[in-house]
Amino acid sequence: MPVELVPNVYWVGAIDWTVRDFHGYSTDMGSTYNAFLLVDDKITLIDTVKKELVPEMLARIAEIVPPEKIDYIISNHVEMDHSGGLGQTIARVKPAKLFCSPRGKDGLSRHFKEDWPFVVVKTGDEVSLGRFNLAFLETPMLHWPDSMMTYLKEEQLLFSSDAFGAHLACSERFDDQLPRFPVDYHHHLKKYYANILMPMGSLITQLVDKIKQLGLTCKMIAPDHGLIFRHPDYVLKLYQQWAAGEVAAKGLVIYDTMWHSTEMLAEAFTEGLMDAGVEAQRHHLRCTHVSDIITEVLDAGLLLIGSPTLNNNMFPTVGGFLTYLKGLKPTKKAAAAFGSYGWSGQAVSLINQELNAMKLNLAHEGLRVKYIPDASELAAARALGAELAEKHLKKQ
Ligand code: FEO
Repeated sequence: MPVELVPNVYWVGAIDWTVRDFHGYSTDMGSTYNAFLLVDDKITLIDTVKKELVPEMLARIAEIVPPEKIDYIISNHVEMDHSGGLGQTIARVKPAKLFCSPRGKDGLSRHFKEDWPFVVVKTGDEVSLGRFNLAFLETPMLHWPDSMMTYLKEEQLLFSSDAFGAHLACSERFDDQLPRFPVDYHHHLKKYYANILMPMGSLITQLVDKIKQLGLTCKMIAPDHGLIFRHPDYVLKLYQQWAAGEVAAKGLVIYDTMWHSTEMLAEAFTEGLMDAGVEAQRHHLRCTHVSDIITEVLDAGLLLIGSPTLNNNMFPTVGGFLTYLKGLKPTKKAAAAFGSYGWSGQAVSLINQELNAMKLNLAHEGLRVKYIPDASELAAARALGAELAEKHLKKQ
């Protein structure tokens, strides 16, 4: 059934209980695609859902008004989890106007190749629905070029598209309804931020400033995934903290291994971090999902990356991880490489190249060990782990 946010504004989205892979992000507890119906002189739908879930969205709408009564649709974001259902919805509703940003029109046209009744809006443009007045705020690269938000002035309600979202399928719709909030939901928010928004830290800071400059007081924030915030200060503060790139006294050992030699070094480095008294985590790249590792990377101050050398290269999982990490533009972290090798041993220098390309603080030239590490080499790895933690984390 639909859920009322404020009088005449309803959540009419869909709950995706079974999605476990969201373009490579592990959604262990599913997701939601939030869509919102505003009932006024002009009945307006903000965003849609994945195309497979359009019947669920239309059924919720039909509990309020016949979908054919919808006058306007607003598309805040082109990505298919929100616009995938737009074609089916428009075919059913036949709206008089489809509002989107300039790049939204370009993206939707490229995706759907349809001659829809586009109305292109820019930051500061407004539309009256009768009693309700909506203002638009373009948020390019948060997280696609087309992204925008819609602000309901009378209710001080921000429909924030992907920003402030989280992937979690649950029966609750509001932050204050989830019994586990904020501890578990904090994790889902953090994972979402780390994997989707980490590269946009400076834009997020600008956005929060822009919201203040425009005088857009937010009594409520309704993102397109997860819970709706009736207490938005909580998530605004979290975003400011994450956007600033604040890190903790926390070191991660991230590695793969062929015959356990690199793993022995990973164990020694982890012991070294613990010797220094900092938070330590060890993640085997074929045991912990990469999107869960990235969640931990967000606030880690030290990354120790281990790989054996395979065919004159780093191990493929390590290469994939570093490619993903580079795209997320991590900042304010020290890093170092290690690995066992048999004869050529290029993995450490190749990892160093990647760490340098990310402009991370290369904390050491890297530790290479031929074949199986002996007791003295393991002791050296442990001592180095402690030394790097003391130098790069204890000041935190
Ligand atoms: Fe939830 Fe960028 O889509």
